[in-house]
Amino acid sequence: MRLGVNVDHVATLREVRRASFPSPVEAGLVCEKAGAWGITAHLREDRRHIQDADMRLLVSKVQHLNMEMAVTEEMLLIASDLRPFSVCLVPEKRRELTTEGGLDVVSDEARIFDAVARLHSGGIVVSIFIDPDIRQLDSARATGAEYVELHTGALANSRGDGVAVELERLIEASEHAHAIGLNVNAGHGIDYVNIKNILKIPHLKELNIGHSIVSRAVFCGMERAVREMLELMKGYK
Ligand code: PXP
Repeated sequence: MRLGVNVDHVATLREVRRASFPSPVEAGLVCEKAGAWGITAHLREDRRHIQDADMRLLVSKVQHLNMEMAVTEEMLLIASDLRPFSVCLVPEKRRELTTEGGLDVVSDEARIFDAVARLHSGGIVVSIFIDPDIRQLDSARATGAEYVELHTGALANSRGDGVAVELERLIEASEHAHAIGLNVNAGHGIDYVNIKNILKIPHLKELNIGHSIVSRAVFCGMERAVREMLELMKGYK
């Protein structure tokens, strides 16, 4: 299973002071050196962390840039121009602290189908971030996207009996996605403790992790933070 590190919050630290450091590009290169397969960055409409210039540098410097973006005309034009290795389509609200849920593909299938086709025509691999919901998965399949990223936030935030319920939902969703021919990634809220539950989800190709790795890096450095996460991922079958 591959690790994709989301470097948004390296840029957050820079933007709170409108400074020139720390650099998400430098962070991405250190993550790659530590063994991360991919680097993810979310270019938000409000540019609260990652900036357009970061995306241009990232795409030229890292091996596999995964651009997270909303399905808007502005972002589709930027992605077609940048041509990152992959794009992950996410819902976006201006007032949210972070992405709050999966994309509602069922309600917006035709528009997302067109977006996927446009990204494919630029040679970009497409993933859709969705909640572990069978109808959403079927709809994601119909758009032509080759990957889904299952939203693990509910599992990450659950406690007590809720853990088993959310885990079961993710396991069923992953089984279904795999059965209908989708590649399955997972992400959101994954940390060094709850990852033991994430590893129980079958068919995962990649985990996308940001906040917990960047937070750990504050104390032990980015390289070690990535290596420690990779060590925990090793047991996955
Ligand atoms: N995957 C997606 C689609 C996301 O929007 C995010 C948050 O930006 C992540 C993964 C990473 O989540 P976290 O920062 O909680 O690890």
